[in-house]
Amino acid sequence: MEVVGGHELQERIGGGITGSVWRAGQLAVKVFNDDENHVFRNEVKVLMRLDSHYLAKCLHAGMSAHPAVHGVKMTPYIVFPLYGPALNRRLRDDNLPLGVVKTLARCLFGGLSALHRSNIVHADIKPENILSNGEAFVIADFGVSVYAGERVTDTVGTPEYLAPEVILDQMWGAPYDIWSAHLVIYSALTRTPLFDIYSEYDVCYGDDVDGVATDGVAMTDDEDASDPTALAYRTLMLMVKVIGPMPNPRRARRYLDVNGQPVGGPVTPIGVESLLLQLTSDDMCEPKSAAEFITAGLQWNPDARPTDDAVLAHAWLAHGQ
Ligand SMILES: Nc1ncnc2c1ncn2[C@@H]1O[C@H](COP(=O)(O)OP(=O)(O)O)[C@@H](O)[C@H]1O
Ligand SMILES: [Mg+2]
Repeated sequence: MEVVGGHELQERIGGGITGSVWRAGQLAVKVFNDDENHVFRNEVKVLMRLDSHYLAKCLHAGMSAHPAVHGVKMTPYIVFPLYGPALNRRLRDDNLPLGVVKTLARCLFGGLSALHRSNIVHADIKPENILSNGEAFVIADFGVSVYAGERVTDTVGTPEYLAPEVILDQMWGAPYDIWSAHLVIYSALTRTPLFDIYSEYDVCYGDDVDGVATDGVAMTDDEDASDPTALAYRTLMLMVKVIGPMPNPRRARRYLDVNGQPVGGPVTPIGVESLLLQLTSDDMCEPKSAAEFITAGLQWNPDARPTDDAVLAHAWLAHGQ
Protein backbone atom coordinates (compact mmCIF):
# COMPACT_ATOMS: atom_id res chain seq x y z
CA MET A 1 0.00 0.00 0.00
CA GLU A 2 1.40 3.37 -0.95
CA VAL A 3 2.27 5.75 1.86
CA VAL A 4 2.22 9.52 1.33
CA GLY A 5 3.22 11.89 4.11
CA GLY A 6 2.94 9.03 6.62
CA HIS A 7 -0.61 8.18 5.50
CA GLU A 8 -1.48 4.81 4.02
CA LEU A 9 -3.58 5.35 0.91
CA GLN A 10 -6.40 2.82 1.26
CA GLU A 11 -8.88 3.54 -1.52
CA ARG A 12 -9.04 5.98 -4.41
CA ILE A 13 -12.10 8.16 -3.93
CA GLY A 14 -11.68 10.76 -6.63
CA GLY A 15 -9.37 12.71 -8.83
CA GLY A 16 -8.80 13.96 -12.32
CA ILE A 17 -6.09 15.57 -14.39
CA THR A 18 -4.14 17.18 -11.57
CA GLY A 19 -3.96 14.18 -9.24
CA SER A 20 -6.00 11.77 -7.17
CA VAL A 21 -7.78 11.74 -3.82
CA TRP A 22 -7.45 8.80 -1.44
CA ARG A 23 -9.10 7.64 1.73
CA ALA A 24 -6.67 7.11 4.61
CA GLY A 25 -8.72 6.11 7.64
CA GLN A 26 -10.80 9.12 8.63
CA LEU A 27 -8.73 11.38 6.41
CA ALA A 28 -8.66 12.21 2.71
CA VAL A 29 -5.28 12.72 1.06
CA LYS A 30 -5.18 14.70 -2.18
CA VAL A 31 -2.05 13.67 -4.05
CA PHE A 32 -0.90 15.92 -6.89
CA ASN A 33 0.95 14.79 -9.98
CA ASP A 34 4.60 15.85 -9.83
CA ASP A 35 4.14 18.39 -12.59
CA GLU A 36 1.13 20.04 -10.92
CA ASN A 37 3.15 21.83 -8.26
CA HIS A 38 1.61 25.18 -9.21
CA VAL A 39 -1.94 23.84 -8.67
CA PHE A 40 -0.86 22.44 -5.29
CA ARG A 41 0.72 25.75 -4.25
CA ASN A 42 -2.32 27.67 -5.38
CA GLU A 43 -4.70 25.43 -3.46
CA VAL A 44 -2.60 25.55 -0.28
CA LYS A 45 -2.24 29.33 -0.49
CA VAL A 46 -6.01 29.70 -0.61
CA LEU A 47 -6.78 27.04 2.04
CA MET A 48 -4.39 28.65 4.53
CA ARG A 49 -6.34 31.90 4.35
CA LEU A 50 -9.72 30.32 5.00
CA ASP A 51 -11.70 29.19 7.97
CA SER A 52 -15.40 28.53 7.51
CA HIS A 53 -17.73 25.64 8.31
CA TYR A 54 -18.69 25.69 4.66
CA LEU A 55 -15.20 25.35 3.17
CA ALA A 56 -13.05 22.20 3.15
CA LYS A 57 -10.46 22.36 5.88
CA CYS A 58 -6.81 21.69 5.16
CA LEU A 59 -5.30 19.72 8.04
CA HIS A 60 -1.81 19.48 6.67
CA ALA A 61 0.09 19.94 3.42
CA GLY A 62 3.53 18.82 2.41
CA MET A 63 5.86 17.12 -0.01
CA SER A 64 6.38 13.39 0.26
CA ALA A 65 9.73 11.97 -0.77
CA HIS A 66 9.98 8.81 -2.90
CA PRO A 67 13.06 7.16 -4.35
CA ALA A 68 13.22 7.81 -8.11
CA VAL A 69 15.58 6.95 -10.93
CA HIS A 70 17.50 10.19 -10.53
CA GLY A 71 17.56 10.94 -6.84
CA VAL A 72 14.38 11.64 -4.92
CA LYS A 73 10.91 12.36 -6.30
CA MET A 74 8.78 14.84 -4.38
CA THR A 75 5.02 14.39 -4.42
CA PRO A 76 2.89 17.29 -3.17
CA TYR A 77 -0.13 16.35 -1.04
CA ILE A 78 -2.84 17.92 1.11
CA VAL A 79 -4.63 16.18 3.99
CA PHE A 80 -8.33 16.90 4.63
CA PRO A 81 -10.93 15.40 6.93
CA LEU A 82 -12.77 12.62 5.08
CA TYR A 83 -16.03 14.21 3.97
CA GLY A 84 -19.06 12.41 2.53
CA PRO A 85 -19.87 11.94 -1.16
CA ALA A 86 -19.65 14.84 -3.59
CA LEU A 87 -22.92 16.36 -4.81
CA ASN A 88 -22.62 14.83 -8.29
CA ARG A 89 -22.54 11.36 -6.76
CA ARG A 90 -25.58 12.04 -4.58
CA LEU A 91 -27.49 13.33 -7.59
CA ARG A 92 -26.60 10.25 -9.61
CA ASP A 93 -28.37 8.05 -7.08
CA ASP A 94 -31.53 9.99 -6.31
CA ASN A 95 -33.34 13.31 -6.04
CA LEU A 96 -32.52 15.44 -3.05
CA PRO A 97 -35.49 16.44 -0.91
CA LEU A 98 -36.30 20.15 -1.15
CA GLY A 99 -35.11 20.78 2.42
CA VAL A 100 -31.69 19.35 1.54
CA VAL A 101 -31.44 21.54 -1.58
CA LYS A 102 -32.15 24.60 0.56
CA THR A 103 -29.50 23.49 3.07
CA LEU A 104 -27.14 23.06 0.13
CA ALA A 105 -27.90 26.62 -1.01
CA ARG A 106 -27.29 28.03 2.48
CA CYS A 107 -23.96 26.18 2.77
CA LEU A 108 -22.89 27.01 -0.78
CA PHE A 109 -23.58 30.74 -0.58
CA GLY A 110 -22.35 30.81 3.04
CA GLY A 111 -19.04 29.31 1.87
CA LEU A 112 -18.85 31.69 -1.08
CA SER A 113 -19.54 34.61 1.22
CA ALA A 114 -16.52 33.68 3.38
CA LEU A 115 -14.42 33.15 0.27
CA HIS A 116 -15.43 36.42 -1.36
CA ARG A 117 -14.88 38.35 1.89
CA SER A 118 -11.28 37.11 1.64
CA ASN A 119 -11.24 38.40 -1.94
CA ILE A 120 -10.94 34.95 -3.43
CA VAL A 121 -12.89 33.68 -6.42
CA HIS A 122 -13.35 29.89 -6.48
CA ALA A 123 -13.75 29.75 -10.28
CA ASP A 124 -14.83 26.11 -10.53
CA ILE A 125 -18.11 25.81 -8.63
CA LYS A 126 -19.85 22.59 -9.75
CA PRO A 127 -21.39 19.51 -8.09
CA GLU A 128 -18.07 17.56 -8.14
CA ASN A 129 -16.48 20.24 -5.95
CA ILE A 130 -19.18 20.32 -3.27
CA LEU A 131 -18.88 17.60 -0.61
CA SER A 132 -21.37 16.30 1.94
CA ASN A 133 -20.46 17.01 5.53
CA GLY A 134 -23.04 15.24 7.69
CA GLU A 135 -26.29 17.11 7.07
CA ALA A 136 -24.37 20.06 5.63
CA PHE A 137 -22.02 20.69 2.67
CA VAL A 138 -18.55 22.14 2.13
CA ILE A 139 -16.95 23.70 -0.94
CA ALA A 140 -13.72 21.95 -1.98
CA ASP A 141 -11.06 22.12 -4.70
CA PHE A 142 -9.34 25.50 -4.73
CA GLY A 143 -6.85 24.45 -7.42
CA VAL A 144 -7.85 27.18 -9.88
CA SER A 145 -9.06 29.79 -7.37
CA VAL A 146 -7.75 33.32 -7.83
CA TYR A 147 -7.55 36.54 -5.88
CA ALA A 148 -10.14 39.05 -7.01
CA GLY A 149 -8.44 42.08 -8.41
CA GLU A 150 -5.86 39.97 -10.16
CA ARG A 151 -6.58 40.58 -13.82
CA VAL A 152 -8.27 37.42 -14.86
CA THR A 153 -9.53 36.70 -18.31
CA ASP A 154 -8.39 33.11 -18.74
CA THR A 155 -11.13 30.58 -19.26
CA VAL A 156 -11.12 28.61 -16.05
CA GLY A 157 -13.81 26.17 -14.98
CA THR A 158 -16.12 23.54 -16.40
CA PRO A 159 -18.16 24.12 -19.62
CA GLU A 160 -21.67 23.65 -18.16
CA TYR A 161 -20.98 26.06 -15.30
CA LEU A 162 -19.09 28.84 -17.13
CA ALA A 163 -20.53 32.35 -16.82
CA PRO A 164 -21.02 34.34 -20.05
CA GLU A 165 -18.18 36.75 -19.24
CA VAL A 166 -15.81 33.78 -18.89
CA ILE A 167 -16.93 32.30 -22.21
CA LEU A 168 -16.43 35.72 -23.84
CA ASP A 169 -12.89 36.16 -22.42
CA GLN A 170 -13.90 39.23 -20.45
CA MET A 171 -12.81 40.19 -16.93
CA TRP A 172 -14.44 38.03 -14.29
CA GLY A 173 -14.57 37.90 -10.51
CA ALA A 174 -16.89 36.90 -7.65
CA PRO A 175 -20.05 37.18 -9.84
CA TYR A 176 -18.70 34.20 -11.81
CA ASP A 177 -19.09 32.04 -8.68
CA ILE A 178 -22.57 33.47 -8.10
CA TRP A 179 -23.61 32.43 -11.62
CA SER A 180 -22.20 28.89 -11.26
CA ALA A 181 -23.69 28.42 -7.78
CA HIS A 182 -27.18 29.20 -9.09
CA LEU A 183 -26.65 26.59 -11.80
CA VAL A 184 -25.63 24.11 -9.10
CA ILE A 185 -28.93 24.72 -7.32
CA TYR A 186 -30.78 24.07 -10.59
CA SER A 187 -28.77 20.84 -11.06
CA ALA A 188 -29.56 19.81 -7.50
CA LEU A 189 -33.30 20.19 -8.16
CA THR A 190 -33.41 18.51 -11.56
CA ARG A 191 -30.31 16.25 -11.62
CA THR A 192 -29.34 17.73 -15.00
CA PRO A 193 -27.30 20.82 -15.81
CA LEU A 194 -29.37 23.79 -17.02
CA PHE A 195 -27.02 24.30 -19.95
CA ASP A 196 -26.61 20.69 -20.98
CA ILE A 197 -24.28 21.47 -23.85
CA TYR A 198 -23.09 17.94 -24.48
CA SER A 199 -26.54 16.44 -24.75
CA GLU A 200 -27.58 15.65 -28.31
CA TYR A 201 -31.23 15.69 -27.42
CA ASP A 202 -32.87 18.92 -26.41
CA VAL A 203 -35.67 17.15 -24.62
CA CYS A 204 -36.92 20.18 -22.81
CA TYR A 205 -35.80 23.01 -25.01
CA GLY A 206 -38.00 22.23 -27.99
CA ASP A 207 -37.32 22.13 -31.71
CA ASP A 208 -35.93 25.54 -32.41
CA VAL A 209 -32.74 24.91 -30.46
CA ASP A 210 -32.11 21.85 -32.59
CA GLY A 211 -32.72 23.97 -35.68
CA VAL A 212 -30.34 26.67 -34.61
CA ALA A 213 -27.74 24.19 -33.53
CA THR A 214 -27.56 22.74 -37.00
CA ASP A 215 -27.98 26.06 -38.85
CA GLY A 216 -25.39 27.77 -36.76
CA VAL A 217 -22.62 25.66 -35.38
CA ALA A 218 -23.64 22.05 -35.30
CA MET A 219 -22.77 19.97 -32.26
CA THR A 220 -23.86 16.61 -33.52
CA ASP A 221 -20.51 14.91 -33.92
CA ASP A 222 -17.41 14.55 -31.79
CA GLU A 223 -15.36 16.91 -33.86
CA ASP A 224 -17.64 19.80 -33.05
CA ALA A 225 -17.91 18.88 -29.39
CA SER A 226 -14.19 19.55 -29.01
CA ASP A 227 -14.27 22.87 -30.88
CA PRO A 228 -14.27 25.65 -28.28
CA THR A 229 -15.99 28.07 -30.65
CA ALA A 230 -18.85 25.66 -31.29
CA LEU A 231 -19.11 24.98 -27.57
CA ALA A 232 -19.19 28.71 -26.75
CA TYR A 233 -21.87 29.28 -29.38
CA ARG A 234 -24.01 26.45 -28.15
CA THR A 235 -23.71 27.53 -24.53
CA LEU A 236 -24.60 31.16 -25.28
CA MET A 237 -27.52 30.02 -27.43
CA LEU A 238 -28.90 27.91 -24.58
CA MET A 239 -28.47 30.90 -22.26
CA VAL A 240 -30.58 33.06 -24.59
CA LYS A 241 -33.09 30.25 -24.74
CA VAL A 242 -33.44 30.20 -20.97
CA ILE A 243 -32.81 33.76 -19.73
CA GLY A 244 -33.55 35.80 -22.87
CA PRO A 245 -31.41 37.82 -25.30
CA MET A 246 -28.17 39.39 -24.13
CA PRO A 247 -28.39 43.16 -23.74
CA ASN A 248 -25.40 45.04 -25.20
CA PRO A 249 -24.15 42.05 -27.20
CA ARG A 250 -21.35 44.11 -28.82
CA ARG A 251 -18.60 41.96 -27.35
CA ALA A 252 -20.35 38.73 -28.27
CA ARG A 253 -20.60 39.68 -31.96
CA ARG A 254 -19.14 36.42 -33.08
CA TYR A 255 -22.04 34.51 -31.55
CA LEU A 256 -24.96 36.91 -31.04
CA ASP A 257 -26.58 39.46 -33.36
CA VAL A 258 -27.41 43.10 -32.49
CA ASN A 259 -30.56 41.94 -30.72
CA GLY A 260 -28.59 39.60 -28.49
CA GLN A 261 -29.98 36.57 -30.33
CA PRO A 262 -27.87 33.70 -31.74
CA VAL A 263 -26.38 34.56 -35.16
CA GLY A 264 -27.85 31.32 -36.55
CA GLY A 265 -31.39 32.57 -35.90
CA PRO A 266 -33.48 33.80 -32.96
CA VAL A 267 -34.80 31.50 -30.27
CA THR A 268 -37.80 31.99 -28.00
CA PRO A 269 -36.91 32.26 -24.32
CA ILE A 270 -38.68 29.73 -22.13
CA GLY A 271 -37.52 30.65 -18.63
CA VAL A 272 -36.42 28.46 -15.72
CA GLU A 273 -39.89 27.83 -14.30
CA SER A 274 -41.20 25.85 -17.25
CA LEU A 275 -38.08 23.67 -17.17
CA LEU A 276 -38.55 23.02 -13.46
CA LEU A 277 -42.19 22.15 -14.09
CA GLN A 278 -41.15 19.60 -16.71
CA LEU A 279 -38.36 18.06 -14.69
CA THR A 280 -39.64 18.06 -11.13
CA SER A 281 -42.94 17.58 -9.42
CA ASP A 282 -44.68 20.62 -7.94
CA ASP A 283 -44.43 19.74 -4.32
CA MET A 284 -40.83 18.77 -4.80
CA CYS A 285 -39.35 22.16 -5.50
CA GLU A 286 -41.87 25.02 -5.19
CA PRO A 287 -41.22 25.73 -8.90
CA LYS A 288 -42.31 29.35 -8.93
CA SER A 289 -40.13 30.59 -6.08
CA ALA A 290 -37.28 28.20 -6.94
CA ALA A 291 -37.27 29.55 -10.52
CA GLU A 292 -37.36 33.10 -9.22
CA PHE A 293 -34.38 32.32 -6.96
CA ILE A 294 -32.33 30.78 -9.78
CA THR A 295 -33.24 33.42 -12.37
CA ALA A 296 -32.16 36.23 -10.00
CA GLY A 297 -28.61 34.87 -10.13
CA LEU A 298 -28.51 34.28 -13.88
CA GLN A 299 -28.03 37.87 -15.04
CA TRP A 300 -26.00 38.47 -18.19
CA ASN A 301 -24.40 41.49 -16.56
CA PRO A 302 -22.08 40.27 -13.75
CA ASP A 303 -22.64 43.52 -11.80
CA ALA A 304 -26.39 42.91 -11.78
CA ARG A 305 -26.06 39.56 -9.98
CA PRO A 306 -26.90 39.50 -6.28
CA THR A 307 -24.20 39.36 -3.60
CA ASP A 308 -23.86 36.22 -1.46
CA ASP A 309 -25.60 37.93 1.45
CA ALA A 310 -28.48 39.05 -0.76
CA VAL A 311 -28.88 35.47 -2.00
CA LEU A 312 -28.90 34.15 1.57
CA ALA A 313 -31.68 36.61 2.43
CA HIS A 314 -33.84 35.48 -0.53
CA ALA A 315 -37.38 34.48 0.40
CA TRP A 316 -36.97 30.96 -1.04
CA LEU A 317 -34.25 30.25 1.55
CA ALA A 318 -35.76 32.31 4.31
CA HIS A 319 -39.12 30.52 4.23
CA GLY A 320 -40.36 26.99 4.33
CA GLN A 321 -38.19 23.93 4.72
N1 LIG B 1 -11.89 15.59 1.78
C1 LIG B 1 -12.56 14.79 0.97
N2 LIG B 1 -13.41 13.86 1.45
C2 LIG B 1 -14.08 13.01 0.62
N3 LIG B 1 -13.99 13.05 -0.72
C3 LIG B 1 -13.17 13.97 -1.28
C4 LIG B 1 -12.42 14.89 -0.48
N4 LIG B 1 -11.73 15.70 -1.31
C5 LIG B 1 -12.02 15.29 -2.55
N5 LIG B 1 -12.87 14.24 -2.56
C6 LIG B 1 -13.40 13.53 -3.76
O1 LIG B 1 -12.42 13.63 -4.78
C7 LIG B 1 -12.93 14.35 -5.90
C8 LIG B 1 -11.82 15.22 -6.47
O2 LIG B 1 -11.37 16.13 -5.50
P1 LIG B 1 -10.97 17.63 -5.91
O3 LIG B 1 -10.40 18.32 -4.72
O4 LIG B 1 -12.14 18.25 -6.57
O5 LIG B 1 -9.80 17.36 -6.94
P2 LIG B 1 -9.64 17.63 -8.52
O6 LIG B 1 -8.75 18.83 -8.57
O7 LIG B 1 -9.00 16.40 -9.03
O8 LIG B 1 -10.99 17.90 -9.11
C9 LIG B 1 -14.13 15.12 -5.38
O9 LIG B 1 -15.07 15.34 -6.43
C10 LIG B 1 -14.65 14.18 -4.32
O10 LIG B 1 -15.44 13.15 -4.92
MG1 LIG C 1 -12.58 18.99 -8.45
